[in-house]
Amino acid sequence: MHFCVRIKVHSTLKRKTPIMNFDLKTLELTAAASEKCDLLVVLIPEGFKPGPDALSALAALALKNGDLSLKAGKQLQLYQVPAVAARRVVLVGVGDGSARASRQAVLALGGAIKAPQTKRVVLCFAGTATGDAVGAAVQAVAEASYVYTTTKSKAEARSLSRCVVGVANPPEVRDGFDSGVALVAGVEFAREWGNRPANHATPSLLADAAKTLAKLPRIQCKVHGPAEVSRLGMGAFMAVARGSEEPLRFIELRYNGAAKDKAPVVLVGKGITFDTGGISIKPAPEMDEMKFDMCGAASVLGTFRALGELQPAINVVGLIPACENMPDGRAVKPGDVVTSMSGQTIEILNTDAEGRLVLCDALTYAARFKPAAVVDIATLTGACVIALGGVRSGLFANNDDLAAALHQAGEAAQDPCWRMPLDDDYADGLKSNFADMGNVAGRAGGSITAAKFLQKFVGDVPWAHLDIAGTAWRGGAAKGSTGRPVGLLVHYLLGHDQAHARAGKKAVPAPHATAKPAAKRAPRAKVA
Ligand code: BES
Ligand code: MN
Ligand code: ZN
Repeated sequence: MHFCVRIKVHSTLKRKTPIMNFDLKTLELTAAASEKCDLLVVLIPEGFKPGPDALSALAALALKNGDLSLKAGKQLQLYQVPAVAARRVVLVGVGDGSARASRQAVLALGGAIKAPQTKRVVLCFAGTATGDAVGAAVQAVAEASYVYTTTKSKAEARSLSRCVVGVANPPEVRDGFDSGVALVAGVEFAREWGNRPANHATPSLLADAAKTLAKLPRIQCKVHGPAEVSRLGMGAFMAVARGSEEPLRFIELRYNGAAKDKAPVVLVGKGITFDTGGISIKPAPEMDEMKFDMCGAASVLGTFRALGELQPAINVVGLIPACENMPDGRAVKPGDVVTSMSGQTIEILNTDAEGRLVLCDALTYAARFKPAAVVDIATLTGACVIALGGVRSGLFANNDDLAAALHQAGEAAQDPCWRMPLDDDYADGLKSNFADMGNVAGRAGGSITAAKFLQKFVGDVPWAHLDIAGTAWRGGAAKGSTGRPVGLLVHYLLGHDQAHARAGKKAVPAPHATAKPAAKRAPRAKVA
């Protein structure tokens, strides 16, 4: 049976021309040899059984001579191979064929995928592939070929325009392929907004980006300005925004994929479009990286971008408090006491601990949706970078099932997190002589005390907090947004731990679509 699907991926909704096409089709190694392309990647698993075709013979010979290993990422590069139409061929090991190995294998190709002469790539899975492995490969191709162009005058756009994924069994991997492509759109949306400099990603521009998402089916967007936020009594959020000329925005997104009475998951993203520290000003080195302080918000936008593509049968609310944190004559001062929307008063001892101040009011607002779970995502603390580095995001939760579901989603998405403690003793340092609480405790356990502060605003709703300060962007020569944790969030929302559900274990407080989403095959990839 011949099988082919084509999906276009736009990293922003505004762009007229698609960034990249992904196709899934039936392709055995014999047919792969006649695929015209700039780069043919043959992904070979351990235990590979060579067939009678030319590529199989090459691989078998190289294996026999020890010139190729099938460990994930080990590779042999070939050029203008007789009887192969592709200009370049890479035989690459994909180990056990897992999603993780598949990602490793593609990322190991490095520059070959990003090279300007690479316009068309064919990825051919030798043997049977799983949907998860195909999804991971699609995402890795996008990750490796991504280029930021928005504020460059002579931008070299992404050279890769078409990627064909060839497998023996397309219908079996179709779901994995679809979610992989949807995740590419979501991750690239998040990377784009994360990477934009703060003067090209103001609170108002972030709100405009959210509004463009409402063009997608089942997505709605409301944006509240300063007057409404003041009416709502969000005194902590307003205190942070005071020092900036840019007006704050409170963004409210909804994805309605299930019946109205189905409790939503609420995602809350920290949207500090630039964090100078305010009056408690930060030192100059690397302060530019504080343009990434809205990566929590970007991950919420990216997640909605992917939901718009996947159309699952769940309800999701996205809340983004967006503003700048600036020093100014009107700025909030250390020692000022403000009243949060919850009625609790806060002594702002350090104006650089602003993320928790904008989040606490959004968390209070979240309660009105009677959520099944609330998950906030924030570049919250430098302490979390010290604790976990750039590999795993910090995970804090007041509910074990929710923590397990998020942890598991992170593993499945290759976007991992690690649970941190929330013992009440950690809240001791937040005591204040002048308000119900201070906004900082000492240096010790800084990411935990920040989480304890947030916990004062969630009541007993199942709540989790993801501290992405170490994972949302990379510094140095590879400086740029990673798009994390869009993968984790989308996997969580889609209930990728359905093995768990099948095993008949107690349902996690998650939105997991019980059956196949009704609209899974609804109109898709129709975004302008
Ligand atoms: N946005 C920062 C956290 C941050 C700092 C993320 C560096 C990544 C790298 C946050 O607003 C902040 O400034 N946090 C302070 C809290 C402190 C004043 C209690 C921090 O981590 O230093
Ligand atoms: Mn700060
Ligand atoms: Zn911050």
